[in-house]
Amino acid sequence: EVVDARGKYILPGAIDAHVHFRDPGYTHKETWETGTASAAMGGVTTVFEMPNTNPPTGTVEALNLKLKSAEQAYVDFGIYGLLGEDNLTELEALIEGGVAGFKCFMGNTFGNLPSPPTGAILEGFEIVAKHGYRIALHAENASIMARRSKKLREAGRCDPLAHLDARPPVVATEAVSRAAILAEWTGARIHILHVSSGDELRPLREAKARGVDITAETCPHYLLLDERAYTEKKSLIRVNPPVREKTHQDQLWRAVQDGTIDMIATDHAPHSHEEKHRDDIWTTDCGFTGVQTQMPLMLTQVGAGRLSLTDYVRMTSLAPAKAFGLYPRKGALLPGSDADLVIIDMERETQVDSSKLKSKGSSTPFHGHAAKGAPVHTLVRGRFVMRDGALVTEAKGHGCNVRRIQQMPTPKPRNVETTTAAIVRKNRK
Ligand code: NCD
Ligand code: ZN
Ligand code: ZN
Repeated sequence: EVVDARGKYILPGAIDAHVHFRDPGYTHKETWETGTASAAMGGVTTVFEMPNTNPPTGTVEALNLKLKSAEQAYVDFGIYGLLGEDNLTELEALIEGGVAGFKCFMGNTFGNLPSPPTGAILEGFEIVAKHGYRIALHAENASIMARRSKKLREAGRCDPLAHLDARPPVVATEAVSRAAILAEWTGARIHILHVSSGDELRPLREAKARGVDITAETCPHYLLLDERAYTEKKSLIRVNPPVREKTHQDQLWRAVQDGTIDMIATDHAPHSHEEKHRDDIWTTDCGFTGVQTQMPLMLTQVGAGRLSLTDYVRMTSLAPAKAFGLYPRKGALLPGSDADLVIIDMERETQVDSSKLKSKGSSTPFHGHAAKGAPVHTLVRGRFVMRDGALVTEAKGHGCNVRRIQQMPTPKPRNVETTTAAIVRKNRK
């Protein structure tokens, strides 16, 4: 199987730590087949998939249903188990059953999963910390959001910017700070999803400085769109957390460059065309497709000199591999070789086109955006899943659950030595 790679770059395949494939439960939005086909086309060789499906991935039974759907996958995958108030007694069974990590919804978002009270989050962290798996957090404060949304709706606001006004940065910053404190107390490893504001960076930096095992991602839409896009994109741009003002975007870029933000993930959150194009912002579903457009969009930034190619690979491949225990990969444990690769052409010019995406819910605010730099071949464990820009349909079902190779480093001692808990324990001895 020879391809001509002259003038191209061979990179490790991207690992997208944040996708929603909707299957089971919302298969009109996406399925494992369409979602992972979109990933293969986007140069993504591994995805980590979120539990806000129906049923939510909070029990072993639900996990097994999802694993069944995932048999259609073109690319490798990890599955997040839900960490909720009602399923604390299931967490260990979920680990046994093959989840690659956990997801906790601190704030309300698609699927309406209740945000657990802080006491339940603490207990969940304690349970998971013993096993070392990373817990990803949708860090938004549900109570602040609920009160603000109610006021805005009562005031008759239903324009796109009302969504931004309902979720000011404090909504996320408060939750990031709280999550970091709970992680410090319990020794849990955590991952902050979709960092959207400059304000979140301070608790993030402080937690890292204290030795908390905390990683963070941002997404292409926070780096490439800002408040001005609401006028043109309208309800299509509705996403949790919201795309914010330019000043936040500038701070996020600086955090990408100084390493405060570890990863670029997409928060691939597909919805049907109808669900994304409503006049009323409150009833428009949040999120949009992303797994196929990340690479061309971000390679354009590489080409423009805003990010080195090495930093791009670190943020989209190396960092997620390390954070989720896939580094260094032991190829022999999964069928095929170690080669998860993407071959890119930095000169190829394309335009984001919703109608050409493999994702079912292909509405994107990036429709029409020009890109320079594109993946042309994708290999998962040595096998082509995209070749010459075309999906290799025979590769359907090639994807494996990475949990079979995942090796999280051994859990840390329960407390960072500087916490009061550690000091009190020491003094009691
Ligand atoms: C996500 C979805 O649709 O599942 N939506 C979103 O706006 N990002 C959920 C989420 O990640 O919050
Ligand atoms: Zn989220
Ligand atoms: Zn998400």
